[in-house]
Amino acid sequence: MQDDCFGLAMTAASPEAAQHYDEVLRAYLGFRNDTGIHLKQALAADEGLFMGHCIKGYFFKLFAMPALEIKALESAGRAREFAKVVSARECEHLLALEAWCAGDMIECTARWEGILVDCPRDILALRLAHFCHFYSGNNVAMRDSVARAMPAWQAGEPGAGYVQGMYAFGLEECGEYDAALKMGEGAVKQNPGDIWAVHAVAHVHEMAGRSAEGIAWLKDTEDGWRGCNNFTNHVWWHRALYHFELAQYEEVLRLYDENFRTEPSEDYLDISNAVAMLWRLENAGIAVAGRWDELADKAEKRTAEHLLVFADLHFAIALAAAGRGTKLDRMIDSMRLTISTRRTTQEQVLAEVGATMAQAVRAQYQGDFELALRLMLPLRYHVRAIGGSNAQRDIFSQMLIEAALKSGKHALARALLHERVALKPGSVRSWNLLAEALDGEGRASDAAEARRHAEQLLAA
Ligand SMILES: [Fe+2]
Repeated sequence: MQDDCFGLAMTAASPEAAQHYDEVLRAYLGFRNDTGIHLKQALAADEGLFMGHCIKGYFFKLFAMPALEIKALESAGRAREFAKVVSARECEHLLALEAWCAGDMIECTARWEGILVDCPRDILALRLAHFCHFYSGNNVAMRDSVARAMPAWQAGEPGAGYVQGMYAFGLEECGEYDAALKMGEGAVKQNPGDIWAVHAVAHVHEMAGRSAEGIAWLKDTEDGWRGCNNFTNHVWWHRALYHFELAQYEEVLRLYDENFRTEPSEDYLDISNAVAMLWRLENAGIAVAGRWDELADKAEKRTAEHLLVFADLHFAIALAAAGRGTKLDRMIDSMRLTISTRRTTQEQVLAEVGATMAQAVRAQYQGDFELALRLMLPLRYHVRAIGGSNAQRDIFSQMLIEAALKSGKHALARALLHERVALKPGSVRSWNLLAEALDGEGRASDAAEARRHAEQLLAA
């Protein structure tokens, strides 16, 4: 047995193998580009490195791509070959990986949470539970999971900042913005390279409608996170969201082309960032030229995956927006077939929310806004089951408002927009849409007042 860098006993053939594994952990926590290199070194130093095979399987699962599902299963198989000699904690990691490979996100998350009760310093279990709570839309579990582990970490010790960064994000997603801001800023102070903590603070500014502060925050911290892996694309997307709120559409497009969609990446998060921004721009009347096509090219190949409903719905939007209705129909057919057997956690989410939302997307782009509204309205408080952050799922709230406005349900649109400006009074776009809804209701002076408010926000 060797100790890992956070003091947990791990099975390794040599201190060298354990040290390489430590570097894998640190690289993973820091969203670094060299994670795979260190994993290769760890497994070269000890081909029977049990946690090395487990973490390799986890990494394959994180991509949510069919070709890598097989590889994740192979890694679990390799780990199982060495399972007889490992600790109970390590064995639980294999059981969690196997459950995840079987598509059971509830079981794998329960395994990680079980590990954390006895070993709150198992930061790998903590980060993976964080991920799966996130993609289950379970914000409270995401927050509380980290709160339970926090007392096992001394402020300032290596790793503690990452735990604080995760806690900051959980707090933010639960609407505890002041606490999230303090926690996130503290984490970044300890470790300027902690992109997840930077991102947690970016979310606070986003939700509070503090666009100028958000831009300043990302500019000020950029040296720390710019060299991270493709998660940087998501952070650039956040930066673009602020500019979008400020109606600085040219800057949004510049960031799109030069920062977060520079490569035609296959990664679902990269694609989701791009889709969510192009949708916003078009919804605001901004032409996006041929940008949908390369996204739809990627989405076309992924109509039958259903590994992550969050990704599926963004693929569906790309297909609809690029005018590829036949492909979207095929995707919806595949969703129907999948939910008839629904074996995995995500397939269950597809049955409860995803397939209907995809049909709403199709209706929206076919101009049948009444149908889109009928499909989306009953699901508005259930969409969170697809996971992602509040900011990411906001696209579906905006689609609902668009459907209400375009189907002539101005009173409903006004009601939804009142809800929206109450939560985020600094959103220029929301006040302008509210004015549109009020105009539709024939309330010209109220509409003028809402427009004035938008102009004042822009001028501030
Ligand atoms: Fe985010």
